[in-house]
Amino acid sequence: MSLPVRRRVEKPAMLCVVMSAFIVSLFLLYNPAADRVFNLVLEHRQNYDKTLFGINTQSLNSEETRSDDRRLIDIIRKLYLTPASAEPYAFAAASLPSDGQATIVDKFFKQKTHGVFVECGAYDGEFLSNTLFLERFRVWTGLLIEPEPSSFEALKKRHRKALIANSCLSSKPHPSEFVLRQDRALSEILDVKNISYHLETGGTGDVSYKIVQCFPFYSFLLAANITTVDYFSLDVEGQEFNVLKTIPWHQVDIKVRDDAVPDKK
Ligand SMILES: *[C@@H]1O[C@H](CO)[C@@H](O)[C@H](O)[C@H]1NC(C)=O
Ligand SMILES: *[C@@H]1O[C@H](CO)[C@@H](O)[C@H](O)[C@H]1NC(C)=O
Repeated sequence: MSLPVRRRVEKPAMLCVVMSAFIVSLFLLYNPAADRVFNLVLEHRQNYDKTLFGINTQSLNSEETRSDDRRLIDIIRKLYLTPASAEPYAFAAASLPSDGQATIVDKFFKQKTHGVFVECGAYDGEFLSNTLFLERFRVWTGLLIEPEPSSFEALKKRHRKALIANSCLSSKPHPSEFVLRQDRALSEILDVKNISYHLETGGTGDVSYKIVQCFPFYSFLLAANITTVDYFSLDVEGQEFNVLKTIPWHQVDIKVRDDAVPDKK
């Protein structure tokens, strides 16, 4: 008599185990963050395509787009470069802002005046700025690039005497879209094409994602009419080497580079 009873109990129990395993694996496969990011990418493309003078994002960011394409340079000039401010500086800190690496660079250039800088990862243009000292006290100018929108808003308010751009340097020799992932402590620039990988390996919790349009370093120089860069400061969250790989060194004259990548000797 005991056998049929046991069988009756076991069957639903087994079914229950199988069902739970199925549901758990569904949860593991479904990644709401991935959906959110893909929607952001689509939304970014739709909004961005409207402003691109008949070029769509997909073709702008394709491997075929050359870094010196006139249309691309036009897009950067019209949509990305904000001219140097004519208004007086407005700093957030009461005391003289920290000058980052600037004193070392200043010494290296023997107090050179009227130099040209490009700083990528300019943050708010003040806190630990590598270029503010040169701009204020040595009359340098150049280009400040900051991908993170709220830092860029702060940068605008400083009234720096340099071109500013809410964008980033492409780690490819053509324009590309990147995902900016931020939690409280850290911001990271991630490849859209590899986003599933990054979402799986990234932390959970209080994380936000933004889509950033990036351009090759060389395109930025052409758009900004910069032929010689005295000081290039590059802080792009671990993408330094990939950015440097895109630079056509025979066409670009950079005197001093400041990044995390050691020179190959
Ligand atoms: C995604 O990124 C990781 C870490 O950078 C890398 O190891 C992996 O090969 C990448 N996958 C693709 C498909 O690019
Ligand atoms: C660069 O030069 C072009 C052509 O001379 C000019 O139209 C443009 O305004 C200049 N842009 C900047 C940022 O200096």
